[in-house]
Amino acid sequence: MTDRFAKVATEHATARGFCLTSAFWMMVATFMGLLGATELVAPDLVRGVSWLSFGRIRPIHVNLVIFGFVGPGLFAAGFYIVPRMMRTPLFSEKLGLTTVAVWNAVLLAITGSLALGKTQGREYAEMIWIIDVFIVAGLLLMFFNLAMTVKNRKEPVLYVSVWYILAGVILTAVTYALGNVIWQPDTGALVGIPDAILLWFYGHNVFGLFMTPLAAAAAYYVIPRVCRAPLYSHTLSLLGFWALIVVYTHIGTHHLLQVPVPTWLKVVAIVDSVAMIIPVMAFLINIWYTAKGHLGEIHRDIGGKFVFTGTIMYFFVSIQGSMMALPQVQRTTHFNNWVVGHAHIGVFGFAGMIALGALYYILPAISKKPLYSRFLADLQYWLLLIGVTGFAVVLTIAGLIQGGAWLNGETEYRVLAEIHPYYMARGALGVMIFSGAVLGFFNMLMTLVVKRRPVLIPAVSERRGELP
Ligand code: HEM
Ligand code: HEM
Repeated sequence: MTDRFAKVATEHATARGFCLTSAFWMMVATFMGLLGATELVAPDLVRGVSWLSFGRIRPIHVNLVIFGFVGPGLFAAGFYIVPRMMRTPLFSEKLGLTTVAVWNAVLLAITGSLALGKTQGREYAEMIWIIDVFIVAGLLLMFFNLAMTVKNRKEPVLYVSVWYILAGVILTAVTYALGNVIWQPDTGALVGIPDAILLWFYGHNVFGLFMTPLAAAAAYYVIPRVCRAPLYSHTLSLLGFWALIVVYTHIGTHHLLQVPVPTWLKVVAIVDSVAMIIPVMAFLINIWYTAKGHLGEIHRDIGGKFVFTGTIMYFFVSIQGSMMALPQVQRTTHFNNWVVGHAHIGVFGFAGMIALGALYYILPAISKKPLYSRFLADLQYWLLLIGVTGFAVVLTIAGLIQGGAWLNGETEYRVLAEIHPYYMARGALGVMIFSGAVLGFFNMLMTLVVKRRPVLIPAVSERRGELP
């Protein structure tokens, strides 16, 4: 058994494990999204089957896209990038593979428990206590493995990707434990308004301290590599890092502008939501100036193409987000499909596209083989890009119809007929996205498991002078 484990735990085994985890759960997660979308088009479709009801399918979809697809995709990138940048092997591939196994067990448990209706009923924190414990344990094990790799490093300089990865993993472990009120196993909650504040402190940190730093780390690694150009500014990258840590951590209350939370807290959340423009633009200016004059290279590299697209989505979602934090805007956009549109541009268009780009970029290196099919990867890119852009358009329109109608005092159910065509369009786009997920899984699986001629990673990207 130990021998077999040692054989599997070769170089990059952890990155490979998280890569397959991400690709597989992306299929399951998008299928659940598609099922939920179909139920919104035809609410009577699955009558009387409790585990297929919308109220259970929705949290399964949401938690699986975050913890099953985007998270593991970015973990794979992290487990590849940190040893590379530190010029030292990962501290322990065995420990890494153990975390891959724990994480997959967690994902199975999330799917099963939520399908059975075992939920703590707080968004992004639905999972019951025992699952929370394993998620935090998994994150702490990952942090230990990565931090020990940094400790053993041969490279004295800590590139910004390493900062982001370590911070993203440890801060998520802490905010997850806090936000899930892990010291209250029965409810996983405080009571009343303080609970709402704590929940949304955590809820927004799922985007701000989990997905954003890990995606930024991947972009900061992939774009200079693909462009074969040094990063535009290291100083700006650190300014962006600290601005993100300082500003992102206290904007969660912008989810509660319609709730009787203290006004000063709302003001802090609104002001800092607008101030988010500082870390966002520090990151984007740095990446885009690095890419300036190299768009041809980005277009030729499928990983670079996904990642660069993700940065454009980041621009849109952030500008939109800063606007959505203004009370006047939120009067129209809150509680309707506008927010669901924003969520898909962010979690899917930004973090998901960057996760996929990072996976495609590292695949030849972690499998020591060329990508199985560039054509399939390109097809997946277009299916997803059209899908997510379409989502943004139809959900924004549906949201504006709902928001406008409600402001005019229209009864809720009378609006449903008006948004029905948009729900149908979302379902059709969902078929494209789900198909893209299946293609991606097939392509990555074939790259990783099918025996083919090994390749040498282009020597040019290895040269010291070209390291970002
Ligand atoms: C990998 C890509 C995807 C990601 C990252 C993603 C992410 C999310 C997130 C974060 C939410 C919560 C939104 C909120 O509470 O405001 C959500 C909700 C939802 N998503 Fe997705 N999603 C993806 C793909 C899909 C697909 C392919 C479909 C199928 C059409 C879909 C359908 C839905 C539905 C129906 C909801 C519930 C909306 C509601 O409550 O009205 N998603 N998704
Ligand atoms: C400058 C950056 C951003 C700001 C200021 C911002 C602002 C907001 C606001 C105000 C809401 C609440 C809307 C409402 O309930 O009426 C919201 C919701 C949301 N945001 Fe953002 N956003 C930003 C970036 C992002 C990014 C990068 C992601 C994804 C990685 C993201 C994902 C989401 C999701 C999933 C929701 C829905 C939460 C729910 O379930 O209700 N946002 N955002």
